[in-house]
Amino acid sequence: MNLEANRERLIALRHDLHAHPELAWQEQRTSDVVAAFLETRGIEVHRGLAGTGVVGVLRNGGGAKRIGLRADMDALPIHEGNAFPHRSRHDGRMHACGHDGHTAMLLGAAEYLAATRNFDGTVAFIFQPAEEADGGARVMIEQGLFERFPVDAVFGMHNWPGLAAGTFAVHSGPVMACADQFDIVVKGHGAHAAMPHQGRDPLLAGAALVQALQSVVSRSLDPLDSAVLSITRFFAGGEPYNVIPAEARIGGTVRAFRGEVQDQVESAMERLCAGIGAAHGVQIVLEYRRGYPPTVNTAAEAAFSRQVLAGLVGNENVRTDAPPSMGAEDFSYMLRERPGCYLWIGNGPGEGGCMLHNAHYDFNDAILTLGASYWVRLTETWLAGA
Ligand code: NI
Repeated sequence: MNLEANRERLIALRHDLHAHPELAWQEQRTSDVVAAFLETRGIEVHRGLAGTGVVGVLRNGGGAKRIGLRADMDALPIHEGNAFPHRSRHDGRMHACGHDGHTAMLLGAAEYLAATRNFDGTVAFIFQPAEEADGGARVMIEQGLFERFPVDAVFGMHNWPGLAAGTFAVHSGPVMACADQFDIVVKGHGAHAAMPHQGRDPLLAGAALVQALQSVVSRSLDPLDSAVLSITRFFAGGEPYNVIPAEARIGGTVRAFRGEVQDQVESAMERLCAGIGAAHGVQIVLEYRRGYPPTVNTAAEAAFSRQVLAGLVGNENVRTDAPPSMGAEDFSYMLRERPGCYLWIGNGPGEGGCMLHNAHYDFNDAILTLGASYWVRLTETWLAGA
């Protein structure tokens, strides 16, 4: 069996998934397609984890080693701007992050491994829902993913526009940042705009706080650590021009690569909220919510992936110098439970240089069999017989 021989079929599969995108937790059709594909290749299928999650289990020989490979299945609430024949059939839903390609690559690898069985041990093919915002991986773990399907290590792969097709980027350590959110309520006292001294202006205090929060990254963190704090909302007023409102609301997001940095940012924000509140005689309440944790590869598994890739595409096509991304990824939850490696496969410059989550983005069909080949080589190497 030759993966290249399956190229056209994999492309057709990817186009079908692209044309029928489903949002987080609603990946019913996708889940059906995945389960049916695995079943017809003789792979044991388990459904129901996190609702639409699918796990395929393939054993060969008597080896005790076990590997987990993960793909994500959900699409985004974006109206597709492409006009090609496989464009989304559903207004307002789109595979704008390439999860259609990720699912097709892992299915292609599963089919090949089931037919060739050139490995000794167990592979778990993990198809997760709700990667984009709701932590489908976290829910699968909470519902017993790694107890029911134990693996020694778990691997993930995401396409990366801007990285040349035919190349990969593998990070040792952090790949993606955390994505925390915060809401701040500034509680003042409303007043007539002509008599501000009779109230406590939450708007002025909020404006001071927005400015002060910009000092968190620059003054509270080690300059060698990376973090970004962005204020993305500020609501106040909306009443007549002559009314100072009683309350202002501020919100935003924090990205960092280490838990200690998240702690430092949160405590610096607490300090500033208390101080600015006292200075302005208003009450400021911070609600800081931890989102996806940072995605951090373990060194040994990153080295393993690099070695497999060097054999597949040559050392010169395996980048180790790419900076990590400040975006986030819920594969991070899997990497908190098991060692592993999440890497980027080059998607090429893309149509018009489109990046992920753009209405004109599309997964690059030319890399489908390359990605599937990586999964196959990785599995065959990880589960090499004694
Ligand atoms: Ni994605």
